[in-house]
Amino acid sequence: MSIRIAPSILSANFAALGEDIRTVEEAGAHLLHVDVMDGHFVPNITIGPPVVKSIRKATKLPLDVHLMISDPDKYIPAFVDAGANMLTVHAEATVHLDRTLNFIRSHNVGAGVSINPATPLVAVEHALGLADMVLIMSVNPGFGGQKFIPYTLEKIRQARQIIESRNYRCIIEVDGGINTDNLPDVITAGAQVLVAGTAIFHAPDPARKIKEMLEIAAPLGYHAKYV
Ligand code: DX5
Ligand code: ZN
Repeated sequence: MSIRIAPSILSANFAALGEDIRTVEEAGAHLLHVDVMDGHFVPNITIGPPVVKSIRKATKLPLDVHLMISDPDKYIPAFVDAGANMLTVHAEATVHLDRTLNFIRSHNVGAGVSINPATPLVAVEHALGLADMVLIMSVNPGFGGQKFIPYTLEKIRQARQIIESRNYRCIIEVDGGINTDNLPDVITAGAQVLVAGTAIFHAPDPARKIKEMLEIAAPLGYHAKYV
């Protein structure tokens, strides 16, 4: 499997979401990244299970649901029922991360764990063996359109090193401020799933932007063997 592009619908036109989703699906996006915010864990509010359920009907793409919410265990069943394929929780938002990841897995969907920029990778080191995906945030979660934080590259490298040395099957996703300029850096560091909101949906031609990203990624994607 090659590098995967996951457009974040946070920067799409919510009044014409179906159309925007069709555009990125036809352009070759691999996953649809859905940002769920509760106004508590992050200072913004977005969408919940009913919207995910509607999106599920509008696309065949796997739904990569990023839960930026406190106490995620409470809502995991509702997002599974709504059609999520991958549920990612924040390590900072759950007291018992091991239990939360097992709880997600018990629902037969992918289990992801995310860390904020300032959270050291070591906080999730032991959980990587339980996770299908680790999401390294490269901006402080809450908003689209922020600037990529370069020190997070080091955490992508650390995650890759741990995953490779222990033969975990966990894949590495990066989210926040990703664009065609920093794409080579994050891929070389070890990221396999690239989330991009503003870079894709605010581009004059989102389909073309996805193709451009895929072209840049293709020759660099040797870490894809871990997917
Ligand atoms: C930020 C979200 C991101 C966001 C990325 O809290 O988790 O998924 O949509 O948007 P860009 O690509 O604009 O940084
Ligand atoms: Zn996200």
